[in-house]
Amino acid sequence: MKPIPFSIKSFKQLRDAIYAFRLPRVIFSALDLNLFTKMKDRDWTIPELAKRVRVSQRGLVILCRNLASVGLLIKSQRGYRLSPFSKRYLQESSPDFRGDYLVLMQRQWSEWSHLTEVIRVGRPLDSQEPETMEYRRSFSWAMHHRSIQPAMEVAQQISLKADRTLLDLGGGPGTYALAFLGQNPALHATVMDRPAALDVARTLAEQTSLETRLTYQAGDFLTAPISGTYDVVWYSNVLHIYSPTDNLKIFKKIKRILKPGGRLLIQDTFLQGPKELQPLEANLFAVSMLLYTQQGNTYAVREVREWLQGAGFSRSRVLHLKKGTGDWDGQLIEGRLTRSG
Ligand SMILES: C[S@@+](CC[C@H](N)C(=O)[O-])C[C@H]1O[C@@H](n2cnc3c(N)ncnc32)[C@H](O)[C@@H]1O
Repeated sequence: MKPIPFSIKSFKQLRDAIYAFRLPRVIFSALDLNLFTKMKDRDWTIPELAKRVRVSQRGLVILCRNLASVGLLIKSQRGYRLSPFSKRYLQESSPDFRGDYLVLMQRQWSEWSHLTEVIRVGRPLDSQEPETMEYRRSFSWAMHHRSIQPAMEVAQQISLKADRTLLDLGGGPGTYALAFLGQNPALHATVMDRPAALDVARTLAEQTSLETRLTYQAGDFLTAPISGTYDVVWYSNVLHIYSPTDNLKIFKKIKRILKPGGRLLIQDTFLQGPKELQPLEANLFAVSMLLYTQQGNTYAVREVREWLQGAGFSRSRVLHLKKGTGDWDGQLIEGRLTRSG
């Protein structure tokens, strides 16, 4: 994700930071109205489209003009039509529709409005409500929609040619496992996650020719044993869910299932810089963890490397992907075991 490119030193900058909420709100309204799907492939006049979407013409004129100004619609002779981007990602009928991820982001709009209360009490929003299988499934689809592109970019840049076995721990829909399998014909991957996530992983894998090299392990990796031994453990976007104590415990557990010389690859958003305050995205993501998890947070590169050392990894380093590729800002942390384990 791109860093927000300003620091606040003037009232104008503060105002710009605050008013950044307007464009997302406009886009969410278009999504609430199912505008992109309802527009299909044709050109619309405002009166026609207002009738189709069942909204006021006045509201629609201003909505469409805003969407066209950022390229989500194209202004035509008659009125408006979808841009190629919107056709591809925002229309339900498109194979690339990112629906579940859009729903997840839409839901966050209202959930973030409870932030002050969450800061007050220090507990997440739904701490009393058990998660349903349905929610978990839809979250896993959202994770897939979020990770399709970075997974391809990561798999193209991380060499696993010498590796035969990979565990995608907390792999959710298995998007990364499938991407690694696609790049490495000699690799076998296992996705470990909760049953609802693995349902989604199975559905996705069945649509590919990679399924024969993918296995599934259902369970809670904090409490249940992790079976098998692996050359590589891929741990993507899970570190931030847990406390420092749990992360150290998980790293120790991972060490026991890695083969001698094996690697743990961690993808997440990491705090860095002299005061470990940057990037802003890593800080904002910690707010999500405050809202949605019991003890999650974002962590500094330094802390993660200390936990790796504490868990018995002999070496650790930061890997850099090509600028603008991968998840977050393209940094991964690698922990490695010695050949003697
Ligand atoms: C944010 S998603 C990341 C999914 C995937 N690794 C990615 O990067 O796209 C976190 C995943 O970790 C799984 N997870 C978290 N804690 C877990 C635990 N204790 N046992 C099993 N799975 C867990 C969740 O179910 C979810 O699928």
